[in-house]
Amino acid sequence: MSEYTITVVKNENPKPKPASDQLKFGKYFTDHMFIYDYSEAKGWHNPRIVPYQPIVLDPAAMIFHYGQTVFEGLKAYRTKEGHIQLFRPDKNMERLNLSNDRLCIPAIDEEFAINAVKHLVHVDSEWVPDAEGTSLYIRPFIIATEPYLGVNPSSMYQFIVILSPVGAYYESGINPVKIAVENEYVRAVKGGTGEAKTAGNYASSLKAQEIVSKEGYAQVLWLDGLEKKYIEEVGSMNVFFKIKGEIITPELNGSILNGVTRNSVIELLRHWDLPVTERRITMEELDEAYRNGELEEAFGSGTAAVISPIGELAWGDKKLIITEGQTGEVSKRLYDTLTGIQFGSVEDPFGWTVKV
Ligand code: COI
Repeated sequence: MSEYTITVVKNENPKPKPASDQLKFGKYFTDHMFIYDYSEAKGWHNPRIVPYQPIVLDPAAMIFHYGQTVFEGLKAYRTKEGHIQLFRPDKNMERLNLSNDRLCIPAIDEEFAINAVKHLVHVDSEWVPDAEGTSLYIRPFIIATEPYLGVNPSSMYQFIVILSPVGAYYESGINPVKIAVENEYVRAVKGGTGEAKTAGNYASSLKAQEIVSKEGYAQVLWLDGLEKKYIEEVGSMNVFFKIKGEIITPELNGSILNGVTRNSVIELLRHWDLPVTERRITMEELDEAYRNGELEEAFGSGTAAVISPIGELAWGDKKLIITEGQTGEVSKRLYDTLTGIQFGSVEDPFGWTVKV
């Protein structure tokens, strides 16, 4: 653990809080934020919690030009006893450092970062909502702040954490989402940055999403960047398919994000002795299973998305209507168990939750 203490400047003008049952995703922000600076001379220094406010950056700051930035997403949950807890924050900070490494950003002390998140959530604890399906989304991110136009790793950074009380990520709430398989654009290739949580992956996904959203699809399902054959992920979530009882998720290959919820789903399924396989799976295989009546369920997993059943998958002019467009049995069991553990109403045999 780092020896730094975090200074706190309290916000003297707290904002009114939105009603818990009116929350959407990522629209409201709390009264405080955490900031931590990096320079080559001092390393990571000056950790502080300050009133939520705009940040001032030089227009030449490298983040604006070359996108040297990484982020994470995790949540704080209010239990029915009124306690607040985090879900596997160690996994997020471990992944943040993997993303840092890929983007040439100096590593942070993971334990210190978890403590900073806990401290910030504690300061803004009144913002953790309590209505069903709501939580406090935590967005840690790092930006390159050196004013310089050469294409090099920056020598200055800021690590910032902001908090947002949220409801369901998709407009459909917890009802099944409609997803379109992307045949033109690609998200990532092996050796690229697909496995890192970095802004560019999301910026480059917008075009495809904009096109399909006009046809009523919430997101696109990305195929591999080379052959456009193997299923990868949705961008805001990893994907799972149940075919003849076997639950399959694409294996991590360098271009798929290593989701914390994905990993938790795999561990839960194994704990329940349900067959779960990480392997390559093509759209052809999925379509054939569908035509044979063997595609029993499809769902996505993510911090923001939790477990989102996929009710329809459009692939070219084919439409795969899965579980009659309803929530499948495994998706429901996973949703109930995961959220139960997160909100403290179901026993946590894995030690995944951490009290704030
Ligand atoms: C998350 O689930 O936390 C994500 O980062 C997905 C997001 C881009 C909303």
